[in-house]
Amino acid sequence: MEEKGRFIVFEGIDGSGKTTQIRLLAEHLKRAGRKVHITAEPTTSVSGGLLRDALCGARKRSPGELAALFLLDRINHNVCPVNGIEKLTSDGYDVICDRYYYSSLAYQGSQTDYRWVADMNLNCPEIRKPDICIFLDIDAKTAAKRISSDRAITEVFEKEQTLETVRNRYLEVFASLPEDNVKIINASGDVGEVAKLIAECVG
Ligand code: TYD
Repeated sequence: MEEKGRFIVFEGIDGSGKTTQIRLLAEHLKRAGRKVHITAEPTTSVSGGLLRDALCGARKRSPGELAALFLLDRINHNVCPVNGIEKLTSDGYDVICDRYYYSSLAYQGSQTDYRWVADMNLNCPEIRKPDICIFLDIDAKTAAKRISSDRAITEVFEKEQTLETVRNRYLEVFASLPEDNVKIINASGDVGEVAKLIAECVG
């Protein structure tokens, strides 16, 4: 029987370089002879579409509705028989996912009841734990600079404050999940150096 693939999650604030580092890790794993599938949450499924409508403001949703939609999207992402995480890892693919339940805990957890959000995600029988979560850690100032080069100074400052809040929430979430295999990687360095640190962690 084919060896099972790994489920690798990336988390990080805006500007932390998730997209680039996911691509580089996928190339690294492929060079090592692995089959790789890249995915993201929200997904491209129906529930992912509902989430994108909410995130862009086209459809207003309450914090509880959002948390429940992310949960539904995540369950579907795990169990979809065509291209779900369970199916692909069983077929030997290493699945790399841009955001997972840590995002729900960090974002929705601060907008509605944290314990409820944590409980429904962590104790759901159809939502698996990742084999490894890579948190691309970058300070809010550097991240704001990376994403805001064309914005007004006050806007950059506001953005920086929001990023700082989200980063702190992530760190609290990780501290509360000792059973999860979370690697906090310093992502403020050169792209190649960060990629090397990640490759060392993932193996
Ligand atoms: P998107 O622009 O699709 O991707 P990214 O910011 O990762 O490049 O944004 C996804 C947004 O959804 C982001 O602001 C975080 C948010 N989100 C949650 O609030 N909860 C979740 O569970 C997930 C997966 C994402």
